[in-house]
Amino acid sequence: MSSLRFLQLHREDDHAVRAELAAGLAETPPRVSPKFLYDALGSRLFEAITELPEYYPTRTERLIFETHRQAIAEAVGRGRTLVDLGAGNGEKAAAWFEALAPRQYVAVDISVDHLRHALASLQQRHPGLPMLGLGVDFADSLHLPPEVGPGDRLLFYPGSSIGNFTPDQALRFLRDAHREAQGGGLLIGVDLVKDKALLDAAYDDPLQVTAAFNRNLLRRLSRLLGCDADVADFEHVAFYEPRQQRIEMHLQARRALELRWPGGHRVLAAGERIHTENSYKHTVEGFAGLLRDAGFGAVRHWTDPQHWFAVFSAAAAPA
Ligand code: AVJ
Repeated sequence: MSSLRFLQLHREDDHAVRAELAAGLAETPPRVSPKFLYDALGSRLFEAITELPEYYPTRTERLIFETHRQAIAEAVGRGRTLVDLGAGNGEKAAAWFEALAPRQYVAVDISVDHLRHALASLQQRHPGLPMLGLGVDFADSLHLPPEVGPGDRLLFYPGSSIGNFTPDQALRFLRDAHREAQGGGLLIGVDLVKDKALLDAAYDDPLQVTAAFNRNLLRRLSRLLGCDADVADFEHVAFYEPRQQRIEMHLQARRALELRWPGGHRVLAAGERIHTENSYKHTVEGFAGLLRDAGFGAVRHWTDPQHWFAVFSAAAAPA
């Protein structure tokens, strides 16, 4: 007996997307949200990034998970509903099925279409585990629908995806997570502040895969807005900004140019940048403080020998 359901709650219409992109390009400095990095090619380029020797987060988190699997499982508790935020192919969560013995697996992604194939294959390998694919955009706020059902939940947010949020947004997200856990808990991966040269190399790799990932955004922008931006006119710029504890990623115009689309335009001077992503880094103490401010207790963390990355568990249950 298998039980696999899908529910698409998020609808983004073309008009709203164009308005959002045009508004971002009108700002000073112009910006485009990092969510537009992940079209079909962008998602594959990100997967390639995770294989790069310079991009330590994915493999470091995997090492922490593998090394401390049982201790982490004990800390977060077994038998809960496992809610996988930004599930992708679901494989990161599936590695936990045995240790966590969840009563249900809920995969959340912006589009349920991304989840159909992955969940069908996971369901075959885990026929006794009820699964639900949810198409939800939780970038602005996290609300799980009643279809998730009753019972405490373990929210799983790996990969340092929380780095795309400013500290204020991160706190808001964590407060939502605390409420949605319904007395359960949170398991989250967080990239740590470290030496600037290591961070710079992770986001500006010599093979230029990250550059391709960033510049691919121009193709998506052109498609969605109708502006034929020339990829060759833009350079990938990425660097660690220690005051704000964040990586900034930009697309820098190689010459003076104008982006034109139906209903608008934006002039860029030579050297002017479009801001495409922030990736905030945290300290262990700083992130533990955010978790407590969001209402979580029993905060624990595990890290790698070099202290490059941290995995936190926290309980939503009242102490
Ligand atoms: C998917 C947001 C965790 O910030 O490290 C990787 C995205 N951007 N290289 C990160 C990313 C450039 C990644 N996150």
